Amino acid sequence: MSQASPGTLSLVFASFNKHKLLEYQAMAPFWLKLQGLKDLHFDHVLPEPYQTLEGNACAKARYVAQLLQVDCFADDSGLEVEALNGAPGWRSAHYAGPNATDMENIEQLLASLQHCSHRRARFRAVICLIVQNREHLFEGILNGTIAHHPRGQQGFGYDPIFVPEGYTTTLAQLTLEQKNSISHRRAAFNQMIHFLENLRS
Ligand code: IMP
Repeated sequence: MSQASPGTLSLVFASFNKHKLLEYQAMAPFWLKLQGLKDLHFDHVLPEPYQTLEGNACAKARYVAQLLQVDCFADDSGLEVEALNGAPGWRSAHYAGPNATDMENIEQLLASLQHCSHRRARFRAVICLIVQNREHLFEGILNGTIAHHPRGQQGFGYDPIFVPEGYTTTLAQLTLEQKNSISHRRAAFNQMIHFLENLRS
């Protein structure tokens, strides 16, 4: 963590995902400046060798912290569907195959649940923060159900088929601000911010 200007901290987000960076930047307090790996012209492939969100979040954060010698955080997130015993989970990005598009993953998931009325699911996000060579984990969860058809144009990934608890719309029908106010990433990020606030004071 470095001081960008007096009272401001600069932290690397160990990810190339522009959607996630935008979500985190929109949630960050005024004193925290976030930089993604594209901003730093980082061109290594991040390791994701484990079959858990926790393992992969830490692997990515460690890799970037060591190579760039910076404090940073990485996240790993996924959709866990009860009727599929928690799948796609850590495989969410590649559920329909190694180079699957969001829409192919959605179609695969809807096909897996074709005759299933039990559609409860949750998004889970795990953040691994590395500050002064120490690792800290934060977890956030968003409960909901899987819709029968995609709806909405906002967001990314499985947003068009995820209906958050207490809503009738999918995440893809919410604005970025609305999604950010309830998301799994928001819950994990809030905990990290709280932790950093304590470090600063
Ligand atoms: P990763 O965290 O970058 O490994 O991505 C995990 C995958 O989970 C993404 O590619 C999406 O398919 C899915 N995912 C994670 N968070 C969200 C979200 O907020 N909305 C929709 N899909 C998500």
